Amino acid sequence: MGGSFSCLAGDSCNERTALDRRGLGYLFEEGTRFAGRRCDYGWDVGRFEGSDVKVKRSGQKVNSVSVKWSVAVAPAIAQGWMSSLFNYDEITFFHSERMVHLVDSIAQAVGLDGDGLIEAREAAGFHDLGKVEVPISILGKAGTLTKEEFVAVKAHSAVGADLILKASPDFWNIAQGVRTHHERLDGSGYPDGLKGEEIPILGRIIAVADVFDALTHPRPYRAGMFSAESALEFLEDNVGSSFDPGVVSALMAIVGPTSLAW
Ligand SMILES: [Fe+2]
Repeated sequence: MGGSFSCLAGDSCNERTALDRRGLGYLFEEGTRFAGRRCDYGWDVGRFEGSDVKVKRSGQKVNSVSVKWSVAVAPAIAQGWMSSLFNYDEITFFHSERMVHLVDSIAQAVGLDGDGLIEAREAAGFHDLGKVEVPISILGKAGTLTKEEFVAVKAHSAVGADLILKASPDFWNIAQGVRTHHERLDGSGYPDGLKGEEIPILGRIIAVADVFDALTHPRPYRAGMFSAESALEFLEDNVGSSFDPGVVSALMAIVGPTSLAW
């Protein structure tokens, strides 16, 4: 999949560089023209100025992944997890990296600080770690998943939380954020069908950021993608039933004014 898409960097697409710096890095289909210029950078070439994740590789082989945003989880463990994710599924890896920054902004806006803010960032970075155990034929499938395939995908939030807790019981809050990021306020989510404030704040924050990022970036199972404005509208339409109102308001305050210029 590497090379299927290009990313914004440098002089191309200047209008969106500010978004990148705020962690809202934006991927374009290769050959996309923006502001009259072709965006043709590689996946990890000049990617996201100021990125907190650096990937060094020769050819297809990843030599190292360094993760600067991880504080609570020891660097060796964090880099091992992100390296696994990078090698397994680049789309999920880059999604996770963007999520760290977006969740960080939302978490601060809803009042998290100190350890809570650190845990929010780390839960965001590792929220899809469990996808390393979902067959790649399912993760990369174009089109609708079968019922059985969907069950396999849905396992990732609990699997990821278990992997994190196995590393240390000290990561309980991070693991809970990971486990609950597909829960929905009305109890329709998974894996536990939690409702409202039974869902930890980290899970509620990651849920909103996750949907926003997923809608506004390419996915193999979907043709096209949403504009930021359309994605915000979708989230607003599902406030209360699926998403935490305060978290959606925070995201709108962060992304909304910028998205009007898109
Ligand atoms: Fe997920």
